[in-house]
Amino acid sequence: MIVNRNLALEFVRVTEMAAIASARLMGRGDEKAADRAAVDAMRSMLDSVDCNATVVIGEGERDEAPMLYIGEKVGSGNGPDLEIAVDPLEGTTICANGGYNSISVMAIGEKGNLMHAPDTYMQKIAVGPAARGKIDITVSPTENLVRIAEAKGCRIADLTAVVLDRPRHHDLIAELRQTGCRINLIGDGDVSAAIATCLPDSGIDVLFGVGGAPEGVISAAALRCMGGDFQGVFKPRNEEEVLRAKEMGVDDMNKVMTIEDLASGNVMFVATGVTDGSLLEGVKFKSWGASTDSIVMRSQSGTIRHITAEHHFDKKPRY
Ligand code: FBP
Repeated sequence: MIVNRNLALEFVRVTEMAAIASARLMGRGDEKAADRAAVDAMRSMLDSVDCNATVVIGEGERDEAPMLYIGEKVGSGNGPDLEIAVDPLEGTTICANGGYNSISVMAIGEKGNLMHAPDTYMQKIAVGPAARGKIDITVSPTENLVRIAEAKGCRIADLTAVVLDRPRHHDLIAELRQTGCRINLIGDGDVSAAIATCLPDSGIDVLFGVGGAPEGVISAAALRCMGGDFQGVFKPRNEEEVLRAKEMGVDDMNKVMTIEDLASGNVMFVATGVTDGSLLEGVKFKSWGASTDSIVMRSQSGTIRHITAEHHFDKKPRY
């Protein structure tokens, strides 16, 4: 077992560091600076982890991202061969506005486990364990709600769907309103929203809509660990994105990707809260340092571990 539990704590240190760095810039209105701080911190911390990892989802192509670009080798070089999907700051606008639900996140898999998704859009549907195996992205949202309500033994009116608040979702939102379900429109952060479908007390039953494809792979890894379900279809914005996807090995852009297509085998998911959210508390700065709230999950064991940490800056000068 390459993605072993000993690595879990090591990777949490990476998202903790990125979360602390970006949380320092919460509410400053500077998305780029907050993202850069998270990227720098994540990149520098990754090399202390004993692994030989390749970034398969990161900050972009080599020519546009100086760090954590797709194909970059990270880790100490000693240890297992891994693939990692990183989003050092998921919800840059949220962090820049001091909003709710920005996280620092990574998914880790063995070679070939994580889909090498191009930086395009993806239509998504995500549900928790109760509705696993019941969803079908090729049928209407209404039909999916019927199936989810049946699986959960409730009425559609008792279900809550979460959707990114975007003009492209005008028709989707209109259809959902017709069904009578409750709707939570969010400004950003569909990784947290997908995960919320698996949290019994989140009050969220399903995620619908189009968001980032890289975030789709990371969400699928998390939902594999939590027993949820996810499907996605690429939604390229232009011919260039189609070509890029082809270069990355995606021949059929219309293919329905199952949760296993996106994140197969043994995967691990790690996240630390940057700002307060449904999944995690945000970083809290104190006179002595900062506290962080993280989650680590492995698909193999299904164990979900919450890790709160106190970071004493006098003993950790790198913070
Ligand atoms: P960033 O952290 O990269 O800004 O992504 C935030 C996010 O809301 C994702 O959660 C989501 O998948 C994507 O942006 C949606 O893209 P867009 O803002 O272009 O609609």
